[in-house]
Amino acid sequence: MAFLADALSRVKPSATIAVSQKARELKTQGRDVIGLGAGEPDFDTPDNVKNAAIDAINRGETKYTPVSGIQPLREAIAAKFKRENNLDYDWKQTIVATGGKQILFNAMMATLNPGDEVVIPSPYWVSYPEMVSICGGTPVFAETSIDNGFKLTPDALEKAITPKTKWLIMNSPSNPSGAAYTEAELKALADVLMAHPHVWVLTDDMYEHLTYGDFKFFTIAEVEPKLYDRTLTMNGVSKAYAMTGWRIGYAAGPIELIKAMDMIQGQQTSGACSIAQWAAVEALNGPQDFITKNKAIFQGRRDLVVSMLNQAKGINCPVPEGAFYVYPSCAELIGKTAPSGKVIETDEDFVSELLEVEGVAVVHGSAFGLGPNFRISYATSEELLEEACNRIQRFTASLK
Ligand SMILES: Cc1ncc(COP(=O)(O)O)c(C=O)c1O
Repeated sequence: MAFLADALSRVKPSATIAVSQKARELKTQGRDVIGLGAGEPDFDTPDNVKNAAIDAINRGETKYTPVSGIQPLREAIAAKFKRENNLDYDWKQTIVATGGKQILFNAMMATLNPGDEVVIPSPYWVSYPEMVSICGGTPVFAETSIDNGFKLTPDALEKAITPKTKWLIMNSPSNPSGAAYTEAELKALADVLMAHPHVWVLTDDMYEHLTYGDFKFFTIAEVEPKLYDRTLTMNGVSKAYAMTGWRIGYAAGPIELIKAMDMIQGQQTSGACSIAQWAAVEALNGPQDFITKNKAIFQGRRDLVVSMLNQAKGINCPVPEGAFYVYPSCAELIGKTAPSGKVIETDEDFVSELLEVEGVAVVHGSAFGLGPNFRISYATSEELLEEACNRIQRFTASLK
């Protein structure tokens, strides 16, 4: 339809939202469906954070805030980066937005010109390429593989960079693979970037607090301080503090970039919700024991899911370092036939037959740019995860 903008033709709808929608529809029809598609913690927001929001309402903190966020939150963000990441940012180098999603969008909108390239390692979070495309840029995919733990190698990064590259988007721990980069792995990528001074890094550290075992989280500007002047370090409260609905994300970086993002945001939303910002101040400055407790729960679920999936015929599930996703391969099952007579030709066939036959909703890997795999979100109870994995085992055993 000519009325709609050309930009729309460059954008795909979100596959993860589509899976949740389909699962909801089947449930409404009375089907017994276990949804493992959603990317949000199943815990409630901690009480101290909720109470901070209620106090803010009662104090009358209900007006427009400065576009880049209230100063107490920006100071809390700068303090968080110092405390947890050893990064020195003045509070004026920080910005708050309506979710990490809007931070990314502001950054792309503020910097991309037609023809600019953005390197995105695959598998990737579904929104990165779409945001780049909406903003007129060109996504360039750098493939990873299951053999190197779904991590970008220095060699693949080097090959993806051209004179037109403006950004590299890093995401560790990763949605969808759960892969997280060690200090040495980040340093090796930083060494490549040092040879290409025109390339900036946007590091999406949204899952920072969800790493397991003795894995230690690092972010790239911490590992290579020489990249500080061309890095946007992004984070948020959605995943760490179970605050997806509050819509608060944040970032810190060079002041010129932050000012440009402020300009975009000023003409778009005028800034994030005042009440949610006060809640985020409490999340960042208040007690942090919520994180430790939930991390232990997530680790137990990860171990359960990985072990049960590896017992399913034809499934190969690596152990991810973090986030709340696993990204198993179903390569061995491609070409097999389901009892319905349906031939499984792609990972999309695999997940749709699994949903149809066993009522388990997962997302196909090709939606994240690397397959044949599928993504399971284990942000749900152990009981449901166990039942879902039993069904997956039964389904894979039925394929001939
Ligand atoms: C990798 C990644 N980055 C960013 C986001 C956006 O988070 P929010 O907009 O809720 O802050 C998500 C949410 O799913 C994500 O998985």
